[in-house]
Amino acid sequence: MNANPPAPLSERTISVVKSTAPVLEKHGEELTRHFYERMFRENPEVKPLFNASNQSGGTQQRALAGAICAFAANVDQLEVLGAAVERIAQKHAGLGILPEHYPIVGSNLLASIREVLGDGATDEVIDAWAEAYHFLASILIGRESHIYTIQARDEHGWNGFRPFRIAGKERESETIVSFRLQPVDGGMVPGFKPGQYLTVRVPDGEGSTTMRNYSLSSAPCADHFRISVKAEEGGTVSNLLHGLDVGAELEVGPPCGEFFLDLTEHHTRPLVLLSAGVGVTPILSILESVLAEQPEREVVFIHGAINGRTHAFRNHVKDLGKRHNQLKVHVRYSEPTDEDRSSQRHDSEGFIDAELIESLAPRKDCDYYFCGPKPFMAAIYQQLLAWGIPGSQVHFEFFGPREELESHA
Ligand SMILES: Cc1cc2nc3c(=O)[nH]c(=O)nc-3n(C[C@H](O)[C@H](O)[C@H](O)COP(=O)(O)OP(=O)(O)OC[C@H]3O[C@@H](n4cnc5c(N)ncnc54)[C@H](O)[C@@H]3O)c2cc1C
Ligand code: HEM
Repeated sequence: MNANPPAPLSERTISVVKSTAPVLEKHGEELTRHFYERMFRENPEVKPLFNASNQSGGTQQRALAGAICAFAANVDQLEVLGAAVERIAQKHAGLGILPEHYPIVGSNLLASIREVLGDGATDEVIDAWAEAYHFLASILIGRESHIYTIQARDEHGWNGFRPFRIAGKERESETIVSFRLQPVDGGMVPGFKPGQYLTVRVPDGEGSTTMRNYSLSSAPCADHFRISVKAEEGGTVSNLLHGLDVGAELEVGPPCGEFFLDLTEHHTRPLVLLSAGVGVTPILSILESVLAEQPEREVVFIHGAINGRTHAFRNHVKDLGKRHNQLKVHVRYSEPTDEDRSSQRHDSEGFIDAELIESLAPRKDCDYYFCGPKPFMAAIYQQLLAWGIPGSQVHFEFFGPREELESHA
């Protein structure tokens, strides 16, 4: 993964970091608050990189400082860190995090650790944390630099942000609108792996910018990207996007993300695609791609929506189901309207649960891909674990910091 892996940490460093990690974990909120306040005061240039909503959520969220500490607590288990490294590096690469940002986060994190540990922050403790941070930073910097090289090497690829124009806008449901995005320079777009996301950068209305990820919602296409955005109540970027007209311009980062269906591999197991609400976006990209590229593969698509008004891509997916014998589609509404019932817009009522999945999947031994709101994700994940499905067959995307999901599960 990294051409020059850093030298391993000493036993002593590992033991000091591990012995202090639980205290930092306990004071996660204080650490987070101190870290962000200090960093944004001392280094305001990095503020636009962060999603303000991820820091202001309060008790549940520990955000970056907490995540780094949790991550550091596993410095002696590189096999555990492996998958996390890829996820974080992809997230960082989407946001355009660069090597010069690392000392900024490092110095502010160490100052915050010193503050939280108080008298416990001996020179030995601080030195050990500095070493552990440097170790993790060099792994991430190595992987991110490799991702940037691959992005730039693609004939139609780029690094950083590229201006795109909204070439089409289509309403998919009461709350979800799709945007067709084309490069302003008239060029093509690079391919991507179905399941990946883009990073969109927009003005924040206060003279700076803010970024959000949006999953690509269709199979790759040479001349445009498509994203589909739900207008979140009180949400800054989603509502800004909904208010833009065809012709408006946006800055877009290259496709990133470690959640994808690998179409270069030959799969023998059936594919079970589960989604709820706007979580359908990466799943639809996977669905369209697998039908086109691996038509021999058996696919089950199960989608949950509140009702027919909020159900996006209904006709499109229904049509795919009619045209492809290998695809089984099932739609479940949690609060169907009378009209939904009379027009038979859905197949069943309630939430997606184990019983439903079991009744539709050809067998339990399938590859599972899922995306949706937090309770949905937690329920599906627990269920697949309870069935003993190996981790290598369980893939999911979460539309927020993974930490938040783990604390919910
Ligand atoms: C990998 C990934 C893929 C994604 N793909 C999609 C996709 O395909 N489609 C899609 O629609 N979304 C997707 N998202 C979610 C998307 O990135 C945004 O988070 C979403 O659009 C909301 O952004 P916003 O700016 O509108 O809301 P924000 O302004 O970020 O607010 C989010 C919520 O937090 C609340 N909030 C904001 N500020 C505060 C505060 N100070 N205190 C308390 N609450 C607050 C808001 O009311 C709102 O409900 C994805 C996210 C990730 C990480
Ligand atoms: C060793 C160093 C670092 C580690 C271990 C680390 C770890 C993480 C983790 C675990 C996440 C959450 C990923 C998820 O969504 O699940 C994350 C997100 C993020 N990281 Fe890093 N990171 C490091 C350095 C940096 C640096 C140097 C920056 C740049 C200033 C940075 C900026 C971000 C941003 C902006 C996010 C997205 C979350 C948000 O908007 O609040 N990180 N990082």
